[in-house]
Amino acid sequence: MNTALSRQARRAFSSSARRFQAVPTQKPVLEKEFKIYRWNPDEPATKPTLQSYKIDLNQTGPMILDALIKIKNEVDPTLTFRRSCREGICGSCAMNIDGQNTLACLCRIDREPAKDTKIYPLPHMYIVKDLVPDLTLFYKQYKSIEPWLQNDNPPAEGEFLQSPEERKKLDGMYECILCACCSTSCPSYWWNQDEYLGPATLMQAYRWIADSRDANGAERKERLQNEMSLYRCHTIFNCSRTCPKGLNPAAAIAHIKMELAAD
Ligand code: SF4
Ligand code: SF4
Ligand code: FES
Repeated sequence: MNTALSRQARRAFSSSARRFQAVPTQKPVLEKEFKIYRWNPDEPATKPTLQSYKIDLNQTGPMILDALIKIKNEVDPTLTFRRSCREGICGSCAMNIDGQNTLACLCRIDREPAKDTKIYPLPHMYIVKDLVPDLTLFYKQYKSIEPWLQNDNPPAEGEFLQSPEERKKLDGMYECILCACCSTSCPSYWWNQDEYLGPATLMQAYRWIADSRDANGAERKERLQNEMSLYRCHTIFNCSRTCPKGLNPAAAIAHIKMELAAD
């Protein structure tokens, strides 16, 4: 091949490639206001406030948790919230966003710049700081239902076995990540949380009652047979409407009530 000609062709190609190279474009600023609940336990006499932060949505990820992390990293490191997995698995970023209890990492930012987004902690809970609720009672209630397999007669060999039908009964319950969105949306739980177990804990109680491998269903049900632990549920369905994992704790509660009525 004629080397002078091939050099010429290479030069022509590289100059035309330069001409068509994409020029990086800066996206226009899309500013959005977030109003976030603030309360500092070190200043207990100061009332909680809603603090305003404005950030450019074109410089942040698409989820509310992305915005919170950007604010904490770049604007105000004192802003306090829980998060861990950032993919809807750990349950720690539960909060109230524009009036709905949900997970900040699964909640898309409304990109309408004229509309602010208001973020509060889960409602009707004691607050540790800013968006962090105190979940001590919630976990104590969960512990009270003894959420583990109880059976003193394990099979002589191997594992406890279940038929596909028996295993299917646990679907829609084992997926619960204990985020507390449902319990803190329940009016009965708001007013009676010292005694009423609330939808998250009750669904987990039923998760063990319904498990064919567990031998303590009768005792588990007996513990719920009182005025307050279970029967404060008035089937309002706030819990199922708000669950960010699409679960139905109200249905699980209805199953417990039916089983207790049948016993
Ligand atoms: S049922 Fe849903 S809302 Fe309630 S704790 Fe479980 S995952 Fe959260
Ligand atoms: S259905 Fe029962 S547990 Fe769910 S929100 Fe209503 S009262 Fe609460
Ligand atoms: S960060 Fe784990 S559920 Fe949101």
